[in-house]
Amino acid sequence: MARTVDPLKIGSISIWPPLVLAPMSGVTNRTMRGLYKPFGLGLTVTEFVSSNALKFGSKRTMEMIDRHGLESPVSTQLWGDDPQTMADAAKLVRECGADIVDINFGCPAPKVVKTNGGSACLRDPQRCEEIMRAVVDAVDCPVTMKMRLGWTESDLVYVDVAKRAQSVGVQAVTLHARTARQFYKGSADWDHIAALKRAIDIPVIGNGDLADSHTAMQRMRDSGVDAIMLGRATLGNPWLISQIADLMEGREARPSPSPADRLRYAIVHLRTMVAELGEARAVPQMRKHVALYLKGIHGGAQLRARIMTIDSADEVAAIIEETIAGLEADAVAA
Ligand SMILES: Cc1cc2nc3c(=O)[nH]c(=O)nc-3n(C[C@H](O)[C@H](O)[C@H](O)COP(=O)(O)O)c2cc1C
Repeated sequence: MARTVDPLKIGSISIWPPLVLAPMSGVTNRTMRGLYKPFGLGLTVTEFVSSNALKFGSKRTMEMIDRHGLESPVSTQLWGDDPQTMADAAKLVRECGADIVDINFGCPAPKVVKTNGGSACLRDPQRCEEIMRAVVDAVDCPVTMKMRLGWTESDLVYVDVAKRAQSVGVQAVTLHARTARQFYKGSADWDHIAALKRAIDIPVIGNGDLADSHTAMQRMRDSGVDAIMLGRATLGNPWLISQIADLMEGREARPSPSPADRLRYAIVHLRTMVAELGEARAVPQMRKHVALYLKGIHGGAQLRARIMTIDSADEVAAIIEETIAGLEADAVAA
């Protein structure tokens, strides 16, 4: 069986398969990354962490930079607009076990851009360069950067910022091919990702709207990127990760699980979240996940509505189990 793509090389770290789980704030915490990694991810990235918040080191902030035992390598993502604060934060996360430090120049959320962080940095490429240089100089591990195309359609700075990244020693760039102003509207424009790959020599990770395994592989081939990053499409469907990993390994993509098997895994997910985070935190977080596991299942909308009001993990599990029993009875009857 011959691999269809090469490993991703970030500095001295070799990543197989070249398949990265997107950082998703409020979603890809330690537990989620630990659950998803075995589906076949090469690299996981923490939720973005404020470099300012790391100065104070609250329990919740420190938990965000904690790695799961199943993850290796792991990249810790930082955001902020001050080079020195970002450098100090990078040193700290490196001491806490980050294999890679990733800089966020992509977040469009108002609470981040109002302090000039995330995608707001793209309004000032010189500032981006100063931040990247300070972080590269601060740590002894690879530094990477994730960005959008630019602040607006009329100011697409991604090639400029990526060239600056390369010149100061950043070792890979991820591009989510939308502008900050677009938020999640329209679609990611992979022609820009291909253009970035042609423009720089360091590895490029392509990101945006990869919703099925064949499109993902096609996008990877057509753009020539070194790796792909998957975000929203994996939620409620971690099997997408395995299907893409299969194609990268050179075998046929495994079939999607049955609705009942999907829901069985939703219970594993729920129980793991409860064990690691406690019921009070896990159940509210699980509502969105269970809703996604239920997608496409007959009567799913009513079940989603029921789960939204329940605080007990056992009750949520009982509803899912009841649904599995219903699905199996239907299968026998059919
Ligand atoms: C809920 C949510 C939270 C996100 N948080 C982050 C983040 O912390 N850091 C980051 O770089 N991108 C973040 N993103 C953007 C994703 O990493 C990714 O770039 C985007 O969702 C496009 O990829 P997709 O189409 O595969 O989802 C977030 C996206 C979502 C939906």
